[in-house]
Amino acid sequence: MNLKGKRILVGVTGSIAAYKTAILTRLLIKSGAEVQLVATIAALDFITPLTLATLSKRPVLSVFFEKSSGQWHNHVELGLWADLFIVAPLSANTLAKFAQGGCDNLLTATYLSCRCPVMLAPAMDLDMYQHPSVRANLEKVASFGNVILDAETGELASGLSGQGRMMEPEHILEQVIEFFNSKKDFQGKKVMITMGPTQEALDPVRFLSNHSSGKMGYALAKTFEAQGASVSLVTGPVALKLDESRFQVHRVTTAAEMFEVAKSLHAQMDVVVFAAAVADFRPQNVADQKIKKAGEELTLRLIPNVDIALELGEIKSANQIHVGFALETEQEEGNAKTKMVRKNFDLVVLNSATEVGVGFKHDTNQVRIFHKGGNEVQSALLSKDAIAEIILEEVKKVAS
Ligand code: CTP
Repeated sequence: MNLKGKRILVGVTGSIAAYKTAILTRLLIKSGAEVQLVATIAALDFITPLTLATLSKRPVLSVFFEKSSGQWHNHVELGLWADLFIVAPLSANTLAKFAQGGCDNLLTATYLSCRCPVMLAPAMDLDMYQHPSVRANLEKVASFGNVILDAETGELASGLSGQGRMMEPEHILEQVIEFFNSKKDFQGKKVMITMGPTQEALDPVRFLSNHSSGKMGYALAKTFEAQGASVSLVTGPVALKLDESRFQVHRVTTAAEMFEVAKSLHAQMDVVVFAAAVADFRPQNVADQKIKKAGEELTLRLIPNVDIALELGEIKSANQIHVGFALETEQEEGNAKTKMVRKNFDLVVLNSATEVGVGFKHDTNQVRIFHKGGNEVQSALLSKDAIAEIILEEVKKVAS
């Protein structure tokens, strides 16, 4: 699995196993995570900050205040930044501090401040690891909800052999991946996604439509479902194969049909994503028979379709989250924000129609996401699956 976008704090304490922190850091970075190292002073006797900083691409933090630069490192900010905190290796001394609530360095202060889950990978010599005080401390920190990555058995630095070796970095990586896979932030939530184009008939064989493929909407559906949501799709005609065992699929053709289905489901939904490219107009008259050419001009009279997002935005309750899309060719930011207010979106995802590889039909996309409250996030050019992950992260922020 990709750890892209995951922020991981790695704590390192004074133990011979600190050399393995370099390998762990490299594995996490290679998997796409952002890694920030926090080391105790003792840890730096075992592994150099230069090694860790080079591998993590960030300076290693070990003190609250850097006299040389006058820089203050805020342990509260660090704690809030992280999605996961791994302390590897965890020495008996730092374990004792964690068990007691001790706070005498940046690492212990960060531990006490962080709100994210914590994994602890102890590393000790054979008898230390079995000492009743260490066992009691491990039990105690486990009772706080910390995940203990049990030491492995093998040859120890002292020459003894037995349990005490820090879990191998490859095994820690497996635990991290499993942790993020099992994190289901949308468990029990109901999500509705409108997707694909609509088709507005002109006559029995012709229609007005657009190039929407439904790929972005479907990528979102898969991502929400993977995080535990029950997902209803209200989809216009798309060529994608939709997995009906994973999603409740409602197939529609016109904007009016899409509106009727979406309206009937709306009240039960926690999150609604308006990813459909709804035709704004439809022919006023639909010919009963195929329109024949008569050698002269043909004038079509189009009338406006219902605006699904606008209508449902008017009946949206305070605990429902609406996410809209905007495709703009000029004054992109201003137009997207105006749309957010008019349609009562909590988030609007702006696709630029002018960038290469972006929008309709492509498998990639590049977006800017605006929050009602003013925050903004900008993505790189990424797969639609990766963009879906980014959008979900922003939806989570609205929900929390
Ligand atoms: N939308 C909708 N129903 C419509 C038109 C749009 O639900 N009839 C939703 C889209 O799914 C999208 C958002 O509204 O989430 C913005 O759509 P867009 O077509 O970009 O904007 P419009 O409101 O149609 O404005 P304009 O044509 O001026 O760009």
